Amino acid sequence: MKIPEEKIQEIREATDIVELVSQHVTLKKRGKTYLGLCPFHNEKTPSFNVDPVRHFYHCFGCGAGGNVFTFLMAMEKIGFPEAVRQLAQKAGIAMPEHAEDDFAIKETEQLYHVNQFAAAFFVRCLKETEAGGKAKRYFTERGFTDEMLETFGIGYAPKTWEGLVQAAKKEGISTAALMKAGVVVESQRGTGAYDRFRGRLMFPITNASGRVVGFGGRLLVDEPRQPKYLNSPETPIYQKSRLVYGLAQAKTAIREQGQVLLVEGYTDVVRLHQAGLPHVVATSGTALTHDQARLMKRYAKRVALVYDGDSAGLEAAQRGAEVLLAGGLDVSIVPLPPGSDPDTFVRASGAEGLAALIETGKSFIDFRLSRLTEAGRLKTVADRAEAARGLLETIRKIPEPIERDLSMKSVAEKLDVDLRVLARAAGKPSGSDLQHDRPDGRPRAPENARQVSEKMLIRLLLENSGLWGDAIFNLVEPQHFEAGPHRTVVETIHAGYLQGEVPGLQQMLDQFQERPAVGKYLTDVMAEGLAEEIDLSRLGLECAVHLRKLELQTEIEASRLALKTASGEEMLVLHKQYVEQKQRSLGLRQVLESEWKKLVEI
Ligand code: GTP
Ligand code: MN
Repeated sequence: MKIPEEKIQEIREATDIVELVSQHVTLKKRGKTYLGLCPFHNEKTPSFNVDPVRHFYHCFGCGAGGNVFTFLMAMEKIGFPEAVRQLAQKAGIAMPEHAEDDFAIKETEQLYHVNQFAAAFFVRCLKETEAGGKAKRYFTERGFTDEMLETFGIGYAPKTWEGLVQAAKKEGISTAALMKAGVVVESQRGTGAYDRFRGRLMFPITNASGRVVGFGGRLLVDEPRQPKYLNSPETPIYQKSRLVYGLAQAKTAIREQGQVLLVEGYTDVVRLHQAGLPHVVATSGTALTHDQARLMKRYAKRVALVYDGDSAGLEAAQRGAEVLLAGGLDVSIVPLPPGSDPDTFVRASGAEGLAALIETGKSFIDFRLSRLTEAGRLKTVADRAEAARGLLETIRKIPEPIERDLSMKSVAEKLDVDLRVLARAAGKPSGSDLQHDRPDGRPRAPENARQVSEKMLIRLLLENSGLWGDAIFNLVEPQHFEAGPHRTVVETIHAGYLQGEVPGLQQMLDQFQERPAVGKYLTDVMAEGLAEEIDLSRLGLECAVHLRKLELQTEIEASRLALKTASGEEMLVLHKQYVEQKQRSLGLRQVLESEWKKLVEI
């Protein structure tokens, strides 16, 4: 079943685009629009615009653009119906009866569904079964509150082989779907499947929007040959290197604090959250990646690495810091005393203890230098040169020139090396600021005059829905537009016009939600500021005249070429045509202007 257009409009109007985008991107108000770092490509300076009045977003860097629906589709990798459904739910708008049955449940939607089901199942087991009660006691005995169970959706996977398999069957969820989501494992004997997680405390892993994408399960009782933590395998919606644990619960606090606390474990996240430091996320046992750095940078620019003080923890902190620096984040490193992790440290010294330690966090350089000093590796001149070289390697990756410079100065001072020598050794930064902001690395082709004229006409048509339709379509037709997204857009508008209604920007975005290139073109058309004092009627006329001139020029050129090889009667006909075209060209503006003035004022 098709969702009625009025419903879609109602939902669109009930959704605040700034609020929706803000869940993924830190936005700052700039004049009439909001500006932030584009979530669709890697950039250092913000070029992602959200227009709260006209309800669309557009990135001047990569061209991405659309409305609330396409934004959600892109962020969550879901289809249009699912995006509509989610936003309807958020806005408290009831969807038409049975509509859900008709939604094509795509694979990703099924994965979300299965994960959500499994999460609910684990929570039920924790609350309602005897063994679950034991799991809950374990959690409580570690000093965690019931509130944290709720906040993080923690559950219990029973120590049976088919608990989840059977529960899912009752719900009509197939074993194949469970297997795809990774919550069950295919039996070796090929006789169905068994639960992947057994006898574990279950931490659901969510994406930034809070939808469950996978699980981390902790053994309640140590068992030989069983890992302490077991994770879901990767699926299209769960990619370890692209998520951080706890972001959904932390993102508001991260924005407020302007800082992320980065820890290593699930329990560390829960402990800090409970202790009143909710701006905390974890990497969950894997090395920090550039994607994760990018993800965090959407919410804050400063990251404090709170890692174990043992040598493995310090190594991990150092590697993590390098990735974060290269991602353009401000990093401080907060080593805990050896043998404690954030969880145990907070239990022993309280949140204040940890907050105080975070205050004293070291910059990457100070951290490296103090480690080298401790290892007795800064004693000789050769040691210092070696240290300087090592540090330079990292500093070169810092994308912002000012930050890079400041770091270099700091190293020069601390190692007592001549800054100029150091700068020369550093040479050109290898940082990603040398890469172009466009994802494909190519600079954007400048627009030609034709494209600008086409853009302006489309803009007039869309912005003032229909007001200009008569005047513009009196002078130009879709065939005057270059093939590609421009032509597609104007053809659609024209078709609407012929039926008595020119579609607006939002209807167009919805209609082309499956074609990002057209969506990009549409928001691009709308995004650029038009000066207040501009005479729109004059602008429209000039653009139409331009397109018609181009058409005529092409015809004239064709006649001229044909004349070159023509002879006899044919030549006379062609020549007559050529002269006539030339004359038409001379009078074209006047003719078009008087046509225009019949319909609109200038
Ligand atoms: P508790 O022992 O319950 O306090 O957990 P923790 O979070 O402190 O665990 P630990 O410090 O041992 O490990 C930190 C993180 O590394 C964990 O949260 C997991 O994400 C991950 N991890 C630890 N052990 C394993 C394991 O055996 N397998 C996998 N895949 N990950 C693990
Ligand atoms: Mn721990």
